[in-house]
Amino acid sequence: MVEVDWRRHRRTAAHRIRSLEPETFEPERTTVWSFPRRGRWATHASGYPGNWAPEVPRNLILRYTTPEEIVLDPMVGGGTTLLECLLNHRQGIGVDIEPNACELAASNLSLGHWPVDWPPDWNPIRLYVGDARRLDRIAANAIHLVALHPPYADIIRYGGGNPSNLSCLKLDAFLAAMRDVAAEAYRVLAPNRHCAVLIGDTRRHKHYVPISVRVLEQFLDAGFVLREDIIKLQHKMKSTREKWRGSTYDFYLIAHEHLYVFRKPAEGEDLKDYRYSVKWWWESSSASATRACPRLISSRAAAKPTFSSIPSSSARSPTQWTPGFLRR
Ligand SMILES: C[S@@+](CC[C@H](N)C(=O)[O-])C[C@H]1O[C@@H](n2cnc3c(N)ncnc32)[C@H](O)[C@@H]1O
Repeated sequence: MVEVDWRRHRRTAAHRIRSLEPETFEPERTTVWSFPRRGRWATHASGYPGNWAPEVPRNLILRYTTPEEIVLDPMVGGGTTLLECLLNHRQGIGVDIEPNACELAASNLSLGHWPVDWPPDWNPIRLYVGDARRLDRIAANAIHLVALHPPYADIIRYGGGNPSNLSCLKLDAFLAAMRDVAAEAYRVLAPNRHCAVLIGDTRRHKHYVPISVRVLEQFLDAGFVLREDIIKLQHKMKSTREKWRGSTYDFYLIAHEHLYVFRKPAEGEDLKDYRYSVKWWWESSSASATRACPRLISSRAAAKPTFSSIPSSSARSPTQWTPGFLRR
C-alpha cells in the first residue's frame, strides 16, 4: 500500500460547492433503498464510472459507527465514502488499485472543510494505492465499518487492463478474488462490527447471472453472519448496466442491486441462534454438497465445524479499542 497525501491536492475547477450537507436527508428505515436523484452536496458528482450515491455510505456510516470511529473502503474509486467520513466526523481509510482513482478521490476530498474540533495537524483520512486483498498497512481488528463497492465482475472495466483490478476478471476468477477480499475485510474488522457490500447482477445470452448470490457466499465462507439484504433500486440502468439494442425484449431490465450487511462475530460468540444466517452449505453432507456445488467445497471443508468454531478473532474487543489508529 502506497500512501497518497490528499491534503496536497487542489480540487478541480469543475467542483462548485453549493452546500456541504444534503438539503434533505432521512436515514433509511426499510430494506428497499432508492435515490432517483443522487445527492450532489460537497464535491459529490456522478463522474466516476459506477460510483455509489453518497446516500449509501452516509446511511451505513450513521447506522454502524459513532463519531471518530474508523471506516474502511478498500475499493474507494472516486472517494465517495471518504468524503462522507470527513463530513460526518469519522476517520476514513480508502484504498484503490488504480492511482488515477486515488488522484480523483484526493481532489474530491479537497473541500477546504475541516471539522472544528479536530486538530489541524491531524490526518483522519488516509488514502492508499493498494490491493483490497492485501491491506498490509492495516492492523487486525482495527476497523469499525468496512464499506465495500467492488466491480460487478467485468461489467464495467476500471483502469487500463491492470490484471490486479478485479474488473478485468471473468466471473470464476472474480469470485475467487472476492473470497480473498472477504478474508482481508474479516481480518481488519473489529469483532462484532459490520461489513457492507454493494453488488449487482447481470445477464448473459439473455439469462440471469446472480453475481450477488455468489459474492454473498464468499463473505459467509469467510466467517461473516448476514444481517441485512437491502435492495437498492437502480435508476438509469440502461446507460450503466445493460446495453441491449432495440426497444423490446423478452426479459426484464435489471433494476436493483444488493447491499449486503455482514457482521463479524464477537469473540467466542456462539452462533447457534444465527444458524440460518451463516454459511449454510456446511449443513449438507459433504457428498451431496459437493454434488450440488463442487466449487464451494474446499479442502478445509472436510469436517463440519460446530458453530462455536466459526472463526473469531483473538485480539481486542471493540470496547477496548482506543481511537487514534491513524495517528501513528
Ligand atoms: C464500483 S468502483 C467503486 C466506486 C466507489 N464506491 C465510488 O463511489 O467512487 C470499484 C473500484 O474497485 C477498484 N478495484 C478493482 N480491483 C481492486 C483491487 N484489487 N483492490 C482495490 N481496488 C480495486 C476499481 O479500480 C474501482 O475504482
